[in-house]
Amino acid sequence: MKYILDICNEKNINNEIAINAWIKKTRKMGSKIFIDVYDTSGLVQVVVNEDNEDFEIIEKLPKESVVSIKGILLERKSKNENLTTGNVEIILNQIKIHSKSELPPLLIQDDTDALEDTRLKYRYLDLRRPIVHNNIKFRSNFLYEIRRFLHKNNFIEIETPYLCKQTPEGARDYLVPTRNGKFFALPQSPQIFKQLLMVSGFMKYFQITRCFRDEDLRADRQPEFTQLDMEMSFVNEEIIFKYIEALWNYVIKKTLNISVPKQFERMEYKDAIEFYGSDKPDLRFDYKIFNLKDEIKNEIINNDQSNGLFAKAIIFDNLKITSKQKDKLNKYLKDNGASRFYWINYDGSSIDNKYFDLENIASIFKTRNIDNGFIVIVVDNYNVVHKSLGAIRTNIINEFNIQPKEELKFVWIVNWPLYEYDEDEDKYSSAHHPFTSPSKDSLKDFDTNKKDAKARAYDLVLNGYEIGGGSIRIHNPDLQTRVFKSLGLSEQEIQEKFGFMINAFKYGVPPHGGIAFGIERVLMILLKTETIRDVIAFPKNSSGYDMMQETPNDVDDNLLEELQIKKYEKNN
Ligand code: AMO
Repeated sequence: MKYILDICNEKNINNEIAINAWIKKTRKMGSKIFIDVYDTSGLVQVVVNEDNEDFEIIEKLPKESVVSIKGILLERKSKNENLTTGNVEIILNQIKIHSKSELPPLLIQDDTDALEDTRLKYRYLDLRRPIVHNNIKFRSNFLYEIRRFLHKNNFIEIETPYLCKQTPEGARDYLVPTRNGKFFALPQSPQIFKQLLMVSGFMKYFQITRCFRDEDLRADRQPEFTQLDMEMSFVNEEIIFKYIEALWNYVIKKTLNISVPKQFERMEYKDAIEFYGSDKPDLRFDYKIFNLKDEIKNEIINNDQSNGLFAKAIIFDNLKITSKQKDKLNKYLKDNGASRFYWINYDGSSIDNKYFDLENIASIFKTRNIDNGFIVIVVDNYNVVHKSLGAIRTNIINEFNIQPKEELKFVWIVNWPLYEYDEDEDKYSSAHHPFTSPSKDSLKDFDTNKKDAKARAYDLVLNGYEIGGGSIRIHNPDLQTRVFKSLGLSEQEIQEKFGFMINAFKYGVPPHGGIAFGIERVLMILLKTETIRDVIAFPKNSSGYDMMQETPNDVDDNLLEELQIKKYEKNN
């Protein structure tokens, strides 16, 4: 079985050919019918002459019906340059109708007006739309090239279980009940298995595998998604970075024919936060955060910042902002906790004289050689200032549709904190996961000085999205136990949850490290789609619901009984 594009080309002109296809449209013009038919590879025009015995049947053939066609391939008189097969057409001899289509519930073309939930309910039809169809084909090729690169570099592909013990990765687990009243968890990632594979001596592992996380969904999150998961023995950060840079260079060149820099930029976590207000900065744009402490009056902030307040700002040059836009954007400042923020035009208009001197504001612009645009100033504590300015930066870039300086911008974010602090729970948890090695300088006192402890962790960011994260791991059972304890786990909990891992580390474990990438996130960026749903054949909708299968759904009470599960009634 060959595709339309394999057959309908110059080589076969004047030959009898056979194709299998779906009907895109039929139109009668004079004594002929023109049919556009398509398959996964493309589209071709078929001409039916009046003397064809099936002429009347074909005239009434509904769109999206499935046919096999035999005919002579001829060179077209009027060529269609927009079509790959635009130089040829098939003069129909014989048609076999396999299946007639009812009127589809959505337009099968790129610019369909169907709502996303309708598209997902009829995903098998949505997947016929060229734009979605081609995303899925691109994904196939993309995964093939990843595998090619990794096999060429002697990585070993190994599958690990989906029915697992709960492991801590930060999100809620999907649990799978078993008939003895116990539970498996679906893996949030194969983290522990890949580390155990290093103990088993595989040295360079990879897997393209499904991960499951029950977390709040966003445009770049799905409850089940695919990771390219990797782990290597006897490596440090430099070796890992080199492999990954070479991998993305190779794959992006092969699939998109775009060259990206051989080496990716690196940025300290602290700088990412302080200059871009984000641990995943989009460096295709400038707009850096800077400190304003010398330029504003003491009433608003003590110059020595001893009160814990910071005054920081971003200048958005070459932009004019309306008060309507300001109102809209203020939401992002407020949502991130800011209450004292100021918008000032370069010429000082809209200035609040209580807090700012016109002269000082003028000098902020002048020292930076800017004589247009506006500045956004936020005064608050460290976290709020950076988070809210980071959010305003992203939203102004979107609101004004600012064009990026380059198409693809990778950056490694390095030197992460080992822990993150949860204010609500007054608790430290792992910033990455508990298997991440503390940095050399933090080894001595990470458990007593959690605030300053640093990790040997790294993220790879592409165009403002975290596409991957990893670390150099702990390979010493005593250090691993110390980290677990620092997270509040008792000796007994450590044994129960991770005993098998600590035990494995007693029998010869190489130093190791790795990384995992979200395949759909990379695809979403490369294909410029709005959500990762557009690069998944059968995604859940934005609420995590499968519109087509109408699930998650209730199950029979007898099944629950068999699984020893009792329905839990929540008291309101
Ligand atoms: P992490 O949790 O950072 O690391 O996940 C790695 C990458 O997976 C992608 N990702 C997601 N993609 C779509 N939907 C989601 N819900 C989702 N969650 C994560 C992101 C992310 O960067 N075991 C570690 C890796 C390691 O240390 O080697 C891990 O899973 O692109």
